[in-house]
Amino acid sequence: MSKPNSPPAQRFAFDGREVDLLHYIYSRPDIKQLRGNPEKVLAAIDDYCQKFNQLINVGPTKGPFITNLIAERKPSVMIELGGYIGYSAILFGAAVRANGGKRFLSLENNPEMAAVANQLVELAGLRDTVQILVGSSSDLLVELVSEQKDIQSVEMLFLDHWQDLYLPDLWLLEQLDVLVPGKSVLLADNVIMPGAPKYLEWVKATPSQKEGLVEKLGAGSAVPKPELVYETTLHEFEAEFGKDAVAVTEVKA
Ligand SMILES: C[S@@+](CC[C@H](N)C(=O)[O-])C[C@H]1O[C@@H](n2cnc3c(N)ncnc32)[C@H](O)[C@@H]1O
Repeated sequence: MSKPNSPPAQRFAFDGREVDLLHYIYSRPDIKQLRGNPEKVLAAIDDYCQKFNQLINVGPTKGPFITNLIAERKPSVMIELGGYIGYSAILFGAAVRANGGKRFLSLENNPEMAAVANQLVELAGLRDTVQILVGSSSDLLVELVSEQKDIQSVEMLFLDHWQDLYLPDLWLLEQLDVLVPGKSVLLADNVIMPGAPKYLEWVKATPSQKEGLVEKLGAGSAVPKPELVYETTLHEFEAEFGKDAVAVTEVKA
């Protein structure tokens, strides 16, 4: 049960509304027009949010900001951490495909959310591009990089799971040696609200500052690579719950 003072993610998610969304979508009189049409599926999800329940998907201002970046950089493969019901996977997966890209991998650890996302991705006709992977982001990243050797480098990564996982997962990617200067770009949502202070401190620091941060930020058994040079820009937005930002981090050297 959600509590009045709990963070937005717990107040506005995981109480049955995501399955309710599927019932809403499949009982719409225009369901046939939604098939194979990502824009219409997204608009139907927006309708549900307006009429019934709020969902915790990427909002109407940040979404286009990221689709513009996809159009500029044209990643062949894009990965997101935290897929929820598939809204960003449909929005960004369609943008990746429209810009000549091949795959959008959405990593989601809640199997019920992943099932809803799969259904909506199928409905949107994006099965050829979007793959929903079920499991924790850290386990799946290790599988994709080390075990399956499916991913050799990160082109564009969207971090949108829980903010306290942003830095451990970034350190994991550093350790896996898949961040490539001049190629990799990291987009981290909600860095102001709810906030990802440790992640921001790391991606804004110089290599020598990072040397001193490894212990302070609690790397534990992780093996970060402070020598990587990052350039981070905060793009601020007025979101429903107040000011928020997407941090765009380019790996420079
Ligand atoms: C804010 S929602 C993602 C919204 C989605 N990107 C969108 O814009 O449509 C965060 C999601 O991250 C998932 N999550 C939390 N911890 C995770 C982890 N360790 N690995 C993968 N997914 C995780 C949650 O279950 C939740 O569905």
